Amino acid sequence: GQWLGISAAPVADDDGSVLVAKEEDFKESKRIRTTVKDRELVVFYNEGQYHALDLRCYHAGGPLHLGDIEDIGGQTCVICPWHQYTIALATGEGLYQGSDPQDPLRTKKWFSKGVKQRVHNTTVKNGGVYVTLSDTSIHFDSDDYACEKLKESENTV
Ligand code: FES
Repeated sequence: GQWLGISAAPVADDDGSVLVAKEEDFKESKRIRTTVKDRELVVFYNEGQYHALDLRCYHAGGPLHLGDIEDIGGQTCVICPWHQYTIALATGEGLYQGSDPQDPLRTKKWFSKGVKQRVHNTTVKNGGVYVTLSDTSIHFDSDDYACEKLKESENTV
């Protein structure tokens, strides 16, 4: 849609960070999609902070750049448009709602499944937004959907 920014070809900097967009590119859409070293990413701008995550949802590869942003249990989250999984922008934690067995009223509360979606480091220099990919020696569930070739072979959104 017209609200979705798409960045120009990323440029690598000396320290390994990659320029993915200008700050002004976030003015309208508050998000851009980009590819860094064959990895599809989405960068969200929310309340003065940039958050870079793997673009494909850890559940089944859904397009997180098309997800709604919501405040859930005090954390800013993206809701995957495919099956409404909830992912915290700052940490990549998967959140789910359940009732606390200790709570006699069984009030629904939000719990964390742990980090499921890989997040990447962002920095801002001279009006440019840079991403440094996180250490891939540790596996996160979203890694299974992170490569471009997979996207092409599955012919998803
Ligand atoms: Fe994201 Fe299923 S693919 S919730």
